[in-house]
Amino acid sequence: MATSILVFDSGLGGLTVFREVVKARPDARYVYVGDDAFFPYSGRGEAELVARVSALMGELIETHRPDLIVIACNTASTLVLPHLRTRFGVPFVGTVPAIKPACAGSRTKRVAVLGTEATVAREYTRALIRDFANGSDVKLVGSARLAGFAEAELNGAPVVDDLIAQEIAPCFVDAAGRRTDTVVLACTHYPLLLERLERLAPWPVTFVDPAPAIARRVADLSGPKAGDAPRSPARIVFTSKRSPSAALAAALARFGIGG
Ligand code: DGL
Repeated sequence: MATSILVFDSGLGGLTVFREVVKARPDARYVYVGDDAFFPYSGRGEAELVARVSALMGELIETHRPDLIVIACNTASTLVLPHLRTRFGVPFVGTVPAIKPACAGSRTKRVAVLGTEATVAREYTRALIRDFANGSDVKLVGSARLAGFAEAELNGAPVVDDLIAQEIAPCFVDAAGRRTDTVVLACTHYPLLLERLERLAPWPVTFVDPAPAIARRVADLSGPKAGDAPRSPARIVFTSKRSPSAALAAALARFGIGG
């Protein structure tokens, strides 16, 4: 029986993690769950989000019986993971801002962390900076709109360049002879916009996407591969129960979902 992996996000951002996990474990069975009925998580209070994700996870475990769950969302992981691990026996792999590798790799020692407003406000994120800044100046940049822009892009309604440029502008600091050279993508939605972020950046930087590291962690935790067994196509579940538009269905097909 193939390993069964459930990948979870508030919307479509977790697809950027999903595609890396699939590369690492092509033999597994997958279900992708987007809690779009509650999107965006960043706009939710902490108690409300803990209650929502804990209750929903109970239902999802009951329905899908996964061997492993990937919380492919920084806004949820930086808050809800300890609650999930206490309550459920299934192993969870979370997604948290890649501050340690970003600061270790920065040459100018100027790093920005671009996340949702909730993620950059979390104590968890602040603690990562205290522990791993490694002498870097780290600027936290909370974006209210970028995750929604990424959703729009995948739904076939891309936003104009200027709006994206405005959201990322505060990441770029040029002071005391040192420019930002590394931007942590601390929301799983943002790599969906990577080509545009690279094009709209005022100067070239390294955008750090944690998805490959998360995929390696999943591979380590999910036991031996089941040979070269062909995997069944991944299923997607939206909590809103919406059916994907034609544009979204085409985008999902590029991620190997649907059919
Ligand atoms: N994909 C989510 C993350 O990684 C955030 C989007 C939201 O606010 O729901 O933080």
